[in-house]
Parts: sequence; structure tokens; C-alpha cells
Amino acid sequence: MPFTPEKATAQEGDLAQLLSTSHRFFLVRLQAGAELHTHKGVIRHDDLIGLPWGTQVYSHLGEPFYLLTPSLADLLRETRRNTQIMFPKDIGFVLVSMSIGPGQTVVEAGTGSGALTTAFAFAVGETGKVISYERRPEMQALARRNLKRLGLEHRVEFKLRDIAEGFDERGVPALFLDVPNPEDYIPQVRQTLRSGGFFGSLLPTTNQVSRLIAALQEHDFAFIDVCEILLRYYKPVPERLRPTDRMVAHTGYLVFARPTLPQEPPE
Ligand SMILES: C[S@@+](CC[C@H](N)C(=O)[O-])C[C@H]1O[C@@H](n2cnc3c(N)ncnc32)[C@H](O)[C@@H]1O
Repeated sequence: MPFTPEKATAQEGDLAQLLSTSHRFFLVRLQAGAELHTHKGVIRHDDLIGLPWGTQVYSHLGEPFYLLTPSLADLLRETRRNTQIMFPKDIGFVLVSMSIGPGQTVVEAGTGSGALTTAFAFAVGETGKVISYERRPEMQALARRNLKRLGLEHRVEFKLRDIAEGFDERGVPALFLDVPNPEDYIPQVRQTLRSGGFFGSLLPTTNQVSRLIAALQEHDFAFIDVCEILLRYYKPVPERLRPTDRMVAHTGYLVFARPTLPQEPPE
């Protein structure tokens, strides 16, 4: 069952977020008879099922929690991981820059822990498809579990392969690489991504970006964009509105490009 509930009240089977006053949250799939055990006490799922979302509830120790639906960003931050995962701020820009939406087919590598895969699966909806390549079986298994937990695994085809061997698909509209050496796979990308399609990649260092740009230029990619997304939170105090003291200063550089079909100019 996907994680966006349709009703105004919490139902059995819904994914719920219990948010404490210290902003710590717990994710649970609501199930009659089950209990959530936290360091601030126990909450019975039976006491949550049927309540309107947004209700304040109390643990058996009297500690307050809010019953909420998790946002996609909350779920991405909570991704169980064995690799570096992509951050919501970068993922959001990838989705709009590559026009990933309902019904879309998107190919990606590597799957890693599946954070980006989750966002792609959410965005393409029931009629779209995500095809995700990974060469390490243990990473693929973890990503599969993460997607299953959110009820999104049926939108993803997981493929266990080193992408040096190429992709099976042809004529796809969007392809994303989150691997350390994307420059080595640009011929494989060209075979799979249709001309005029959307290519994207995330890289942590400028050296890697330089190598990727050179490879993209060599293979007739145009409209190459390189950017980074800086996200700064503010303390929400009306009379002293100012940025928080700390921020995540660096995650990675995003590279976008479009494969083109160069033609000779008319005589
Ligand atoms: C940084 S992780 C990807 C994280 C993922 N995008 C996420 O948000 O959770 C990179 C993954 O790429 C995989 N990988 C690296 N090179 C690969 C290749 N040539 N073919 C397939 N997978 C590869 C690694 O095994 C690793 O799991």
C-alpha cells in the first residue's frame, strides 16, 4: 500500500509518523493490536486507528506526540542505508529538471540504498516505471526492502548488473547515474537514452564533474548544466527570524545534459 493515505483519519495499514516535541519521529505501519515502543513510552496502534491526522496523542508515560502522515522528504531522510544516499534537496531539483512525472519511464544506476529510486517511484505513479541497475546484490536487496516498506516496489524493476555491460532498454526519456565514474558509461547511456532525452548525474567532487563534462561533450550531449543546491533553514521565531546556526554545506554537484543528433548544416 503506497504511503499517501486518502482519508482524513488514520486507517489500519497506513504509514504514520509519530512526532515528539523534540522533533524526533517514529514511523509505523498501523496494525490492530501492535504497539510502538519509544524511550518516551508505549503507544498502542489501536489508540491511533480512526483518529484524525494531526491529533496530539500521549504515550503511557504521558509524553505527547503528534499523529501525522510522513512527507516524502521525511521518508527519504529515514532511508535505511549502506551507501551515501541522495538528499531531498537534490532529489527535488532532479525531478523537476528531468521532468519525472506520472506515466514516465526512468532508468537509473546505481540503486544504492534506494533513496532516489523511492522518489522516482513516487513521482512516476502507478502507470510509470523505474528501472534500477545495481552491481552489488546486498545493496539491491536493501533497496528492495526499503521500497517494499513504502509499498512502492511494484513500480521498480531491479536489475543486478554492472552497467559497463550496458542497459537493456532503448529509447528511454530519462536516465540518471549516481555512480562514482559516470564518464565511463556515456556510450552505454547513449544507446539507451533517446536523443533529446534527459540525462542527470550527481557527483561529490569537481574533479569528477570535469571528467563527466568532457565525456558528455565527446558524445554529442548539449545544454550541459552544472549546479549545486544550497538549502538553508531558518529558526521560525517571528521576532528574531534568522538562519539556523548549522547547515549541510555540501552534498554533491548535479550535472544535467541532453543527447543530441548533430547534422551537417545545409549548403
Ligand atoms: C552512492 S550509491 C547510490 C545511492 C542512491 N542513488 C540512493 O539515493 O540511495 C552508488 C551505488 O552505485 C553502485 N555502482 C557503482 N558502480 C556501478 C556500476 N558500474 N554498475 C552498477 N552499479 C554501480 C554502487 O554499488 C553503489 O551501490
